[in-house]
Formats: sequence, C-alpha cells, structure tokens
Amino acid sequence: MEAERHTTEELGVDGRNLDGVYRYYELAKRAEWQVRDLPWSDAPPIPEYSGSPQKLGRRRDLWRSVITQQLQADELAVEMATQLFSIAPDREAKLYYTTMVQDESRHTEAWLKLIHEAGGMAERDPYLDKLAQHVLDADTLEEKVFMMQVFFERLIIPRFRMIARSSRGTVLEDLCNRLAIDDGIHHGAGMAYERVLLEGAGKKTQTRLIEAANRLLPTFAQHALWRPKAREFIGALMRETDVRMLREDLEHGIRLAKSLGLDVSGVEMPTF
Ligand SMILES: [Fe+2]
Ligand SMILES: [Fe+2]
Repeated sequence: MEAERHTTEELGVDGRNLDGVYRYYELAKRAEWQVRDLPWSDAPPIPEYSGSPQKLGRRRDLWRSVITQQLQADELAVEMATQLFSIAPDREAKLYYTTMVQDESRHTEAWLKLIHEAGGMAERDPYLDKLAQHVLDADTLEEKVFMMQVFFERLIIPRFRMIARSSRGTVLEDLCNRLAIDDGIHHGAGMAYERVLLEGAGKKTQTRLIEAANRLLPTFAQHALWRPKAREFIGALMRETDVRMLREDLEHGIRLAKSLGLDVSGVEMPTF
C-alpha cells in the first residue's frame, strides 16, 4: 500500500509534509460506522423515568433540548467541514476532509432520527449559530482549522462523555460514545494540519489568528452560559458547573495554541 502513495513532494503545496494528515484520512475511513448500527430497536432513545406526568414532561423536554443543541452543532459542522474541504489547498487534506464532511452528515442524520423519536425539536441556541458564522467568515484557513478542529472539536468530547454517563442504556448514550471517537479524529487531524499550516506561516498569520480568537471568545462565553427555557429550572444549579467548564475550555484552548507554537500573550479572556 505504501508503494502506491505518492511522495509528499509530489502532493503537498510548497513541499509540505502532509503524512500526518493523510494518516487521519485512513484512520477515519476505518472508523466509519452507519446510523443503522445504533441500537434503535433494543434500547430507548433517551432515559426513561417514573413519576408525575409533569416530571416526565419536564425530563423529556430537557433531553429534547440536549439533542436539539447537538443536532444544531452537527448541522453547522457539515457546513464548516464542507468549506474546509473546498478551500484546503493540499490534496491529502482534501481527501481527509471528504471523511469529515461524511462524518458530520452522518452525525446530523443520527440526531435527526433521535430527535424524532424523542418527541421533536426544541429551542435553538442563538450563540451557536453566531459561533459557526465566525468560523465560516474567518479570513484564513489557519483561523478556520484552529477554531473548528483545534478548539471546538476538542472541547465537545467531555460533553459527549457527560451526556453518555447520564443516559446509560439508551440510543443517546451509544451515539455520544461514537461521536466522542469521531470528534477525537477530527481534532487530531486538525492539530496535525494546523501544525503544517503554521510552519510555513509568518508572524502576520499568527497575529491574525489571535485577533480572530479574541473576536470569537465573547460569543463562545455567551454560548457556554446560555440556558434554553427547558433547562432553566436546573440553570441556577448548573451555573457554577457551566462557569467552571468554560474556564477549563478557555485554559485548554490556550494550552493547545501554545503547543502549536503560537504566542498567546495577546489573547483577551472574555469576562463573564
Ligand atoms: Fe459531529
Ligand atoms: Fe466533528
């Protein structure tokens, strides 16, 4: 198989070494699954409870709201992945992005089926739409890969684990476990590609990236602390957790930026 591979000099722009990115292309193809693989007929879609009709209704609304946000995120992820596919100049990266477009489409398909089984869509998070717009409108590929794959794809993973822990024995749990793996691949591929992109980038690209992050972070904080009506009753309870997780996400983002060799001294932390 190795013999069939073209050398990087033939494929990469400016002789870039894209072997790391290509590895994720192969990994993503091996890891692909189908929506029909989920336990649709063996497990309930979302957790089942006993109690008063009011309590049951409230719980259902809560899960519908959780699923709606994830559906919204994956619909936006399809758009972002498609844009990355179309603007990435390197062939290996383009090949890799075909799998990411496919993954995000499959995630959307799964959430659509699940939201139907859970009783229908709930309220959208307005800040999530704004976040995606930041990525889609960003000027450079370096900015888009950083926001989408380095930052978002990494921080969603503990969310999936958290949802899976509180929905044992359901289709939702199974889906979240699969998405944690897929988004691990999306993040890994993004880290590998961003490294290659930044190697050839000058100070100007780096400065623009930090400026883009500073424009993004206030919206990110609003998104992290936003509570839909269905989850307002646990909002006060959860505010502390939300703030703690937001801090952790921001610190993690800074560590990731540093590990890519970026100068983070210009990052302005949002206030909340
Ligand atoms: Fe996804
Ligand atoms: Fe993803």
